[in-house]
Amino acid sequence: MNRTFWKEAVVYQIYPRSFQDSNGDGIGDLRGIISRLDYLHKLGVDVVWLSPVYKSPNDDNGYDISDYEDIMDEFGTLGDWEDLLNGLHARGIKLMMDLVINHSSDEHAWFVESRSSKDNPYRDYYIWRPGGPNGELPNNWSSIFSGPAWELDEKTGEYYLHLFSRKQPDLNWENPKLREALYKMMAFWLDKGVDGLRMDVINMISKVEGLPSAYYEGLAPGELAGGGQYYMNGPRVHEYLQEMNREVLSKYNVMTVGETPGATVEDAILYTAEDRNELQMVFQFEHMDIDSGPGGKWNVTPWNLTKLRDILHKWQVGLADRGWNSLYLNNHDQPRMVSRFGNDREYRVISAKMLATLLHTLKGTPYIYQGEEIGMTNVQFPQLEDYKDIEIHNMYKEKVTDGGGDHEATLKAIHVKGRDNARTPMQWDSSPNAGFTEGTPWLKLNPRYEEINVEQALADPDSVFYYYQKLISLRKNHPVMVYGDYELLLPEHEFIYAYTRTLEGERWLILLNFCEHPQTVDLLEELNAVTETVISNYPEEQPAMDRETLRPYEARVCRLGG
Ligand code: NOJ
Repeated sequence: MNRTFWKEAVVYQIYPRSFQDSNGDGIGDLRGIISRLDYLHKLGVDVVWLSPVYKSPNDDNGYDISDYEDIMDEFGTLGDWEDLLNGLHARGIKLMMDLVINHSSDEHAWFVESRSSKDNPYRDYYIWRPGGPNGELPNNWSSIFSGPAWELDEKTGEYYLHLFSRKQPDLNWENPKLREALYKMMAFWLDKGVDGLRMDVINMISKVEGLPSAYYEGLAPGELAGGGQYYMNGPRVHEYLQEMNREVLSKYNVMTVGETPGATVEDAILYTAEDRNELQMVFQFEHMDIDSGPGGKWNVTPWNLTKLRDILHKWQVGLADRGWNSLYLNNHDQPRMVSRFGNDREYRVISAKMLATLLHTLKGTPYIYQGEEIGMTNVQFPQLEDYKDIEIHNMYKEKVTDGGGDHEATLKAIHVKGRDNARTPMQWDSSPNAGFTEGTPWLKLNPRYEEINVEQALADPDSVFYYYQKLISLRKNHPVMVYGDYELLLPEHEFIYAYTRTLEGERWLILLNFCEHPQTVDLLEELNAVTETVISNYPEEQPAMDRETLRPYEARVCRLGG
């Protein structure tokens, strides 16, 4: 397996709207990020992934782009962006931009042209279909943000496809002119010195010909259904990615990660195997779907370690020889990891560190989401109006306002799974608005900011922050953490995830307790071979009762000898 920068890197994701405001309008911006670069440098990350900063009417906070080659007014100017790039590079940090090319905004000039008439040269940049003779939709696909995936456009009397909101029309990748225009736009940024691209729902760009309706047993006529099997990992996706690679990516030294909901290990190999020249990594979703019931994301069901370990293990083994894993436990679309997989009360600090250990010691490239490094937690806003996310509001309307569902139960699901959990402003200090803004924040702060904030973390040598710093530097100094083979131990244990990483005679043992009670590990041979505990999330002055017992949420990384 080739050794390369992007395998050794640790990536930090910034959601610009919520990171740091510099001008008091309550919205984070580029100048705000620039003012925090020393903080990122101190943490030690190698790459910053910036969620979209392009011009956008913000129906979906920038994931609806109206001009791919300019910056959103609230965030600043192209000049500010250049300063950010230079500021990162001056600190040895690379910049990964977010590329949203499955869809654009309906306010993009291409769509404005496209909807203007059936024979406009841009008509075919998007996916238009006539309705049925009795006004039926072109097919029964539901949008990922609730309701039908089709919107009727009065002007020409046809429907356009939008897998996300109606302000996010899907681009028609079948059209070579569209593809060429996108490649040109990518070159625009890469020529400016961008080092990496995260590609939004990139496995949805190829739809099955004919756009067939989805049928499931028990589906009533006219009922909407998720049509994922007709647009995820579709028939031409690999052809498109290989073309993109040939036309653009191969001409630059660029790090790539594709967001691929619904991708299996087999799909991921096709996307990331080095000899296929597509992408370097993908974000798989299986571990993020772990607490979704048959009714989907909002049908919250309990998860357990066995399920989580089975998934992560499958991906570790599956991509061991071909491909490469991305490692993440949360991002701007997911609840906070410590609230979801750890314990955000009594064991917040300990369990955040345990999860951080998992993130940095599995084989793959770790992605940290802003605030994770100080152990930020989910919020439980009491009012629906406190939430701003379009996904939450569309779902609530469908389920409760129109569907007569239960308000309390739905609000509870939002508390557990809503994307705004991750989007509350970054907590910098304990002053009003946590140092995020001097104005009124666009989304309320998590009330726990007085206790959980960067200032506190930097002042406490035992903080989650310094633990991340140590893990990041361990990866830099010990190739076994990057390239070592992964092997699972204790495959049946209900609460312990244990594995080794081995490289050229060096063998490390990782022990993680996922539970709030002490657990015994039956690994005599390995424990006898321990020569050094490299890192652990319990303070040294609090030694364990015995080697075999892992304390609540304890994590240990040990070097083995002999
Ligand atoms: C995935 C992005 O991560 C999410 O935030 C966005 O809403 C959808 N793609 C649509 O672009």
